[in-house]
Amino acid sequence: MKSSGRSVVLDALSGAVPARRPIWLMRQAGRYLPEYREVRAGLSFLDLVRSPSACTEVALQPLRRYDLDATIVFSDILVIPDALDMDLSFEAGEGPKIGRTLLGEGAELRWQGVCDRLGYVYDAVSALRVAAPDHALFGFAGAPWTLYCYMVQGGGSSDFAKARTALWTDPDAALLVLDQLAGIVVEHLRRQHAAGADVVQLFDTWGGLLAAPDYARFIIPSLRKIAAGLQGIPSVLFVRGGGHLLPLLSDLGFSAYSLDHNVDVAEARRILGRPTQGNLDNTRLLGPPEAVREGVLRIHRSLAGARDHIWNLGHGVLPPTPPDSVASFVEAIRSLE
Ligand code: CP3
Repeated sequence: MKSSGRSVVLDALSGAVPARRPIWLMRQAGRYLPEYREVRAGLSFLDLVRSPSACTEVALQPLRRYDLDATIVFSDILVIPDALDMDLSFEAGEGPKIGRTLLGEGAELRWQGVCDRLGYVYDAVSALRVAAPDHALFGFAGAPWTLYCYMVQGGGSSDFAKARTALWTDPDAALLVLDQLAGIVVEHLRRQHAAGADVVQLFDTWGGLLAAPDYARFIIPSLRKIAAGLQGIPSVLFVRGGGHLLPLLSDLGFSAYSLDHNVDVAEARRILGRPTQGNLDNTRLLGPPEAVREGVLRIHRSLAGARDHIWNLGHGVLPPTPPDSVASFVEAIRSLE
């Protein structure tokens, strides 16, 4: 009998040898696919995220094209600030904007009952569970620090200087908000698990902006709280740009760690002592198939025969990626010895 994507992903996460190499890609649903752009032509991003049936359709699109083992609920990390009434919008080509920032005037946040206002996410998880019963289903959330970055900054930024400054200006207030966010994140992930997610992934996309001692002081407490709140639920932590932070992450209690492309897989596995996920440079998919294959072979050599690894990119699929490159990526992995 052919093993399911569910079983190979869960086996790898538990440190066992899966029957084949588990594969999925961050942002595997998205603008690089013409069929996604077609759905988006009739629907704003936020309306798409709030429609469980449309979310299911776009999450299934990559599964129809490629031999993938996992699917991830189509949603966004910024649904939490949205449910906090922070006036979230996405301008075409500009990325997210938050109108009422955490430090702005009059930002009276509705901390109570946030997850009760996110029922559409749990509905999207249950609908995808039914539609993709044999794929491992990932739920996800932004890590408290990455959410804090957007909530203080008011949108995207290359350095999130305002958010980082807020740590130094009022450390106690920052710690309090990060702790409050950790509580919400635990509830949001647990509800996704209850709705049918097999695994939950926490995205600390901006973790790498902080020095290790500052990450230890400000961020590790909220990650510990989340890991403790997720006991019994398979979990993956992704800290982008976090190569220098790996020694702080190893004993947190997540099942596995997702690595960006700057981290050496062998070294990360030595430090973490846990299953890994990743970490092909996503721009290799903008190059020729040989560049994809070469990157896959390098990761394969770094793994040195270890099989508790989930194949993925180091960050999400970029919008200009040719759909055939994703096929080359899957093919290169499936043809490994
Ligand atoms: O397939 C999947 O991976 C699931 C969907 C998913 C989205 N966002 C959909 C999305 C996931 C896992 C996310 C996480 C997310 N969102 C993160 C953490 C992971 C990462 O990529 O670093 C962050 C920082 C965000 C915040 C966010 N959402 C930004 C900065 C943007 C704009 C940038 C961009 O790519 O346009 C978004 C919008 C967004 N979220 C899109 C998608 C498919 C593009 C929206 C569109 O169709 O126009």
